[in-house]
Amino acid sequence: MICSILLLIILTSCVSGTLVVNVTQTSYQAEENQHITLEWTFTTNPHTSSNSLSIFCELLTDLRPSVLFHLHEGVEVPESQDEQFAGRVQWDKDVLREGRLRLHVSRLRTSDSGLYLCDVLTSYESNSGKCWLNVTGKLIQENWSFCVCA
Ligand SMILES: *[C@@H]1O[C@H](CO)[C@@H](O)[C@H](O)[C@H]1NC(C)=O
Ligand SMILES: *[C@@H]1O[C@H](CO)[C@@H](O)[C@H](O)[C@H]1NC(C)=O
Ligand SMILES: *[C@@H]1O[C@H](CO)[C@@H](O)[C@H](O)[C@H]1NC(C)=O
Repeated sequence: MICSILLLIILTSCVSGTLVVNVTQTSYQAEENQHITLEWTFTTNPHTSSNSLSIFCELLTDLRPSVLFHLHEGVEVPESQDEQFAGRVQWDKDVLREGRLRLHVSRLRTSDSGLYLCDVLTSYESNSGKCWLNVTGKLIQENWSFCVCA
């Protein structure tokens, strides 16, 4: 299923049109265990209903892409979500029809760092927006008093 979604994205990303996808911030900085809200805005058309709207967001790292959020024709598809993000992503349904995708990611991990890409697809066109997230680990103050040198 994921393969067909990816294929769909590849095929539709060639179509350019009036659908604009922006990010409100191109890069975010956070610390481990903090919460963050990633936000994308896109043009809405009064003629396209919300059930023709699909959104696919993933984190691109050197290792492998992991799916953060998937909305298929207005319906969330939690099965697509990577277990890395299970139970940590919430979205604002109310602002989606205004063309705002707000994803709240909680309990951040350093492995959440990377490039976040969201593809927005309507019946006729698609576009994407991306932003960087950098999650740094909390500084751990080591207590070297217990260090015994052999
Ligand atoms: C996207 O950004 C451009 C340039 O800042 C702005 O003109 C446009 O209104 C924005 N569109 C949306 C849907 O946010
Ligand atoms: C992430 O943040 C740390 C601490 O501010 C900084 O040193 C590092 O260069 C940043 N990394 C990236 C990829 O932006
Ligand atoms: C390190 O451990 C020692 C012994 O328990 C303690 O007295 C000291 O306050 C600790 N230092 C820090 C910076 O936590």
